[in-house]
Amino acid sequence: MTDLELGNFGRDFFWGTATASYQIEGAVSEGGRGTSIWDTFSHSDGKVTNGDTGDIACDHYHRLEEDLDLLGQLGVSTYRFSLAWPRIQPDGSGKPNQGGIDFYARLIDGLLERNIEPVPTIYHWDLPQSLQDKGGWKMRETSYRFADYAGVVTDAFKDRVKHWITLNEPWCSAWLGYAVGVHAPGETNIDSAVAATHHLLLGHGLALQQMRSMTEAKIGITLNLSVVRPASQDRADIEVARLVDGNLNRIFLDPIFKKQYPGDLVSHYGGAIADATTEDLETIGQGIDFLGVNFYFPSIVIARQNIDKARSQGLYVDTSREPNLIDADFGSAGVHRMGVKRTAMDWEIEAGALTELLVRVHDEYSTLPIMITENGCATHDYVNPSGKVIDDDRIEYIESHIAALASAIEKGVDVAGYFVWSLLDNFEWAYGYSRRFGIVWVDYETQRRIPKKSFYRYKEIIKAARDA
Ligand code: FCB
Repeated sequence: MTDLELGNFGRDFFWGTATASYQIEGAVSEGGRGTSIWDTFSHSDGKVTNGDTGDIACDHYHRLEEDLDLLGQLGVSTYRFSLAWPRIQPDGSGKPNQGGIDFYARLIDGLLERNIEPVPTIYHWDLPQSLQDKGGWKMRETSYRFADYAGVVTDAFKDRVKHWITLNEPWCSAWLGYAVGVHAPGETNIDSAVAATHHLLLGHGLALQQMRSMTEAKIGITLNLSVVRPASQDRADIEVARLVDGNLNRIFLDPIFKKQYPGDLVSHYGGAIADATTEDLETIGQGIDFLGVNFYFPSIVIARQNIDKARSQGLYVDTSREPNLIDADFGSAGVHRMGVKRTAMDWEIEAGALTELLVRVHDEYSTLPIMITENGCATHDYVNPSGKVIDDDRIEYIESHIAALASAIEKGVDVAGYFVWSLLDNFEWAYGYSRRFGIVWVDYETQRRIPKKSFYRYKEIIKAARDA
């Protein structure tokens, strides 16, 4: 694909890459850092592939300068990273730990020296364990602690940060963490996930309030959204797809943009979202400056009673595993279309779904600027005998999704930025180091970094767009 075919983006467009603290930093007991729920979870038997942990990860904590230089070499205009709450407040409350503040000050200063705009995410899943010991996101108290923490980091960095993201993917924190159980803290209870959903959103709202009183910076939240399609026009498929869409998309978008939880979900779940007060909903929906969207794959959903029929419809359903709690509760199952390419995560690739999603958000919810705060893929990378990583599949994925953004822009969506997930291969949560998302290869034995072919291609794309 030529650069022109990728689309026209304004000069101010944010071109970046993204990472998250626990996935790259390592140094888990240094600089006064406390324990997070991901330390506990990854050290529990059988939770993470190969028993991997984030203890060392990419050793980014000690290799900050080298990684900053990689960003400089790449030519990004921005970099999204996350602040580890237990580095800033080891026990989740109280006065800040200087070691943590100093580390992120070095990172932010290093970015600014290279003309790269820092976009910190305040929370990317590493909750201080002491807060989990008191119930974590199931408890309303955690929302207040989060707002205090957001105030602490705003105070420390408000002279240098112009764009903040409060939460990363609250759906994953609440539903993978408290219902499906494959993420920390590993609970499996729907009511807990519903409570966590509300408390994460409330924490976001309270943090916004706190931060607004301290800074003029732009503040957003990052959601993992997708298009959710029924596998067929069968009524049962349509009904479950609507519920899955509610659980993934509407349960966050409705309160943020319409100050209410979706009626069908309120009736289905009850609990914390049914009991939410008008005051809480006002706090949650008070208004953001931009929406962060992480997009990876479209979801195709079938009613469980239709699974036997699925194969004849050219669909593939993995019935080898027990349905997760969300699916068991809805009577739904995720399916794959045969013939649609999938990534090393087994996620379907369909760039057009990103355009469709953005147009929907624009039409149904908001005309605010949208930043694609994560997009990318895991591929089966290897270092070839000449020492290179030729990841053509990743290049194709990135190019097609950038082109999908261009068509969303043509359709009237205000897309303000794109961040490739990820700068580095890293700790992919429950998959440990077995999945590689980086545009830079990391040799975990030596911590050597090797920019992959996609790194050089992304560099060209950014340069062409910035010179245009
Ligand atoms: C997202 C997470 C990110 C990374 C990618 C692959 O859900 O925000 O940390 O793991 O998926």
